[in-house]
Amino acid sequence: MNSTSVESITTSEPAAKKVYIKTFGCQMNEYDSDKMVDVLHTAQGYQQTDDPEQADLILFNTCSVREKAQEKVFSDLGRVQHLKAKGVLIGVGGCVASQEGAAIVKRAPYVDVVFGPQTLHRLPELLDARRAERRAQVDISFPEIEKFDHLPPARVQGASAFVSIMEGCSKYCSYCVVPYTRGEEVSRPLDDVLAEVAHLASQGVKEVTLLGQNVNGWRAPFTKAAALNDTDPPLGDFALLLELVAQVPGIERIRYTTSHPNEFTQRLIDAYGRIPQLVSHVHLPVQHGSDRILMAMKRGYTALQYKSTVRKLRAVRPDLALASDFIVGFPGETDADFDALMRLVHDCQFDHSFSFIYSPRPGTPAANLEDETPQDVKLKRLQTLQAQLEANMKRFSQALVGTRQRVLVEGHARKPAHELMGRTMCNRIVNFEGPQRLAGQFVDVAITQAYAHSLRGDVVLSAEATAA
Ligand code: SAH
Ligand code: SF4
Ligand code: F3S
Repeated sequence: MNSTSVESITTSEPAAKKVYIKTFGCQMNEYDSDKMVDVLHTAQGYQQTDDPEQADLILFNTCSVREKAQEKVFSDLGRVQHLKAKGVLIGVGGCVASQEGAAIVKRAPYVDVVFGPQTLHRLPELLDARRAERRAQVDISFPEIEKFDHLPPARVQGASAFVSIMEGCSKYCSYCVVPYTRGEEVSRPLDDVLAEVAHLASQGVKEVTLLGQNVNGWRAPFTKAAALNDTDPPLGDFALLLELVAQVPGIERIRYTTSHPNEFTQRLIDAYGRIPQLVSHVHLPVQHGSDRILMAMKRGYTALQYKSTVRKLRAVRPDLALASDFIVGFPGETDADFDALMRLVHDCQFDHSFSFIYSPRPGTPAANLEDETPQDVKLKRLQTLQAQLEANMKRFSQALVGTRQRVLVEGHARKPAHELMGRTMCNRIVNFEGPQRLAGQFVDVAITQAYAHSLRGDVVLSAEATAA
């Protein structure tokens, strides 16, 4: 053996362990999955793989918001069980884990670790304990916001990034599991959020999406130094946070999701007049249009109050695209209630939205309500609602044809791969031809065609570029 080959043997690193993560549910879960990869990479050198067959560790980041989502986990777990034979570890995190805890190990004894949304930073220790003690580890506690203090700095991919600004939810809508799975609402401190945004911006991020179940419920004490003027309330609110995020150099677009109609304050509406980086696209779930149902859902507003908020917002931003969430078939929903919902949909002109049939969740107050509506009636209502929402969306897309849209280029289009893909301010996907070097940049695109879920267009060369 010559010296070169000895050297190549001694310096060669053992192959990095690989983690495969399958994510269900909302953007909070998407964010958490990225954090799991960061934590595992920093502590134990794991690399992410998109092939479960290659993985040493398989994680499911689960959602329990509807029964269907919850059941999916167990069928998926069954599908990877055979990989245990070659020593693969299997973990379940997220909201099903939070709700079911040790019951998951009971139902699927081959699961090695169960962890909740607030304990994902403890994954490396849980895996070590699993190996040392040779038994499944379960930690679904809610150590207040500790998670953020234990996460490595975010790794940046592309020009757009998520920033979690709060955890949990304290609204307790009568149908919803989230307060039970994610715990009470806790805001992340102002300085932490701003430091994370600045860190992202320094790495080329131009668009941030602030994340939380009700981001406009964000509250934090702020230092005098951060106060903008004397009229700011004694406690920092979401409008102030937006203002401060907008001042971070390099941040050109600000999105957030989700917001709650109850806390959509005048200060927040006014912020749309002052902050040009705030996109004209708001996801403001209404859930229903009948006051009786809204009350039973414990949403805390009427259809009229919701419409009034939307009207005020559109007065400041006439081009606002409004997205929403809807639940049909809530216990006791009559034809008249459903008509009220359809009237609201007509009045508010929602853009791309999400709609669901009510799914009773164990442990929530609504699960005990008498529900006499037959399933086929619920399905019919969902179809009627979705057809209307789809028609609205088509109309909005069609209206964009012939306009020029500023698009943040994300990278390759899915099909055909030589094309580029980006998003308009109103969150529409646009495909167009252009050089790869435009990835991560803003470009103006003239929209030429509208499809069901995307647009097509041509890059518009700026006057300087044409002159050069
Ligand atoms: N915090 C957000 C949404 C969280 S859950 C909000 O309050 O608006 C995402 C969506 O799932 C909800 O907006 C609601 O439309 C839907 N959802 C929640 N619980 C549900 C249930 N039990 N059955 C059907 N849909 C549900
Ligand atoms: Fe669930 Fe209501 Fe909280 Fe939204 S606000 S997460 S629907 S309890
Ligand atoms: Fe689902 Fe939990 Fe999000 S229940 S929607 S993953 S907060």
